[in-house]
Amino acid sequence: MVAKPAIEGGVRIERRINSRLSEIDMDNIPFGREFSDHMLVVNYTDGKWQQPEIKPYGPIAFTPAMSALNYGQSIFEGMKAYRGTDGDIRLFRPKENLSRMNRSAERMCMPAIPEDIFMNGLKQLLTLDANWVPKQEQGTLYIRPLMYATDDYIGVKSSDNYQFVLFTCPVGLYYKEPVNLLVTKEFVRAAIGGTGAAKAAGNYAAAMLPDKIAKSQGYHNILWLDGRDHLYIEECGTMNVFFVVGDTVLAPRLVGTILPGITRKSVMRLIRDNGYKMEVRRISIHEIEEAYEEGLLKETFGTGTAASIAHVNMIGFQGKKMFLPPVEERAIGNWLSDTLNDIKHGNAKDPYGWVTKL
Ligand SMILES: Cc1ncc(COP(=O)(O)O)c(C=O)c1O
Repeated sequence: MVAKPAIEGGVRIERRINSRLSEIDMDNIPFGREFSDHMLVVNYTDGKWQQPEIKPYGPIAFTPAMSALNYGQSIFEGMKAYRGTDGDIRLFRPKENLSRMNRSAERMCMPAIPEDIFMNGLKQLLTLDANWVPKQEQGTLYIRPLMYATDDYIGVKSSDNYQFVLFTCPVGLYYKEPVNLLVTKEFVRAAIGGTGAAKAAGNYAAAMLPDKIAKSQGYHNILWLDGRDHLYIEECGTMNVFFVVGDTVLAPRLVGTILPGITRKSVMRLIRDNGYKMEVRRISIHEIEEAYEEGLLKETFGTGTAASIAHVNMIGFQGKKMFLPPVEERAIGNWLSDTLNDIKHGNAKDPYGWVTKL
């Protein structure tokens, strides 16, 4: 049942009369399986974005000829809304997601999304579904901006029509324990000149098989090496990666093959501004092996919106398992985790203006 549609703040809103919220157990939210009441849908036709609409979350009709399904023009983003202890809802650097989405769009030959459509649509959607943002101790509201090609056309060419959708789901923790990462030389995620820096759906499809193999061996994620030398560490399937060797934080540099994470960028700012030593450069897997052998590998952690700061328990490489020190001893990862969490939930000062209140 929907209420009579109305235009509010430039968005046509068709509201559900009965929320599904009472069906959700907010204390046991599975990741990514329960969706909030509404979604934003904006069509791109005749060379321009059309009237944004918010409607009940649900199926969207398409035909098997739909371009995105056949040729993969599909990009997305991942961001979160946080409910603070004060009850207010905050977004973390949402314009960074928009600008990354538009960089992905450019690489995948898709139209850019105007800032007002993205930001206004996001705010209207979150305002309507505000009760879906869990309490701090329960989790967060994951937000998925998505754009795909909608031409019904069989032939390899970029589509003329697209759809931009924003939908949300309350989520608990992505990783419930420190993660195990498998280094592979067999598969490659991205090569220079490819699409590795774009949040393109196909990048994730190509990683499914290696990911499945890693999981069958007790790992949570692949730790990718570069596509040319199979030597230099790039990132994980869902996170960027950092190492603490001795007293120095190491991070792989961006050369177009790694997703430029917003958490990564924020973590780097915190590390630099708090007087830690940091090197952003090529890091060979053998350098990490040597550091491990010498007892210098103090910490490894992943950074990402879904995972936040994910401590690494073990790195597997060519049959060898490198176990990291206990999590309680990870001074930098724990400090980053607490600092980011506090900023996102409004429990600490936000010196960089990263947080936008709804
Ligand atoms: C491949 C990959 N790398 C890194 C990240 C981390 O990016 P962010 O910190 O912007 O969430 C993600 C998650 O979006 C990802 O999918």
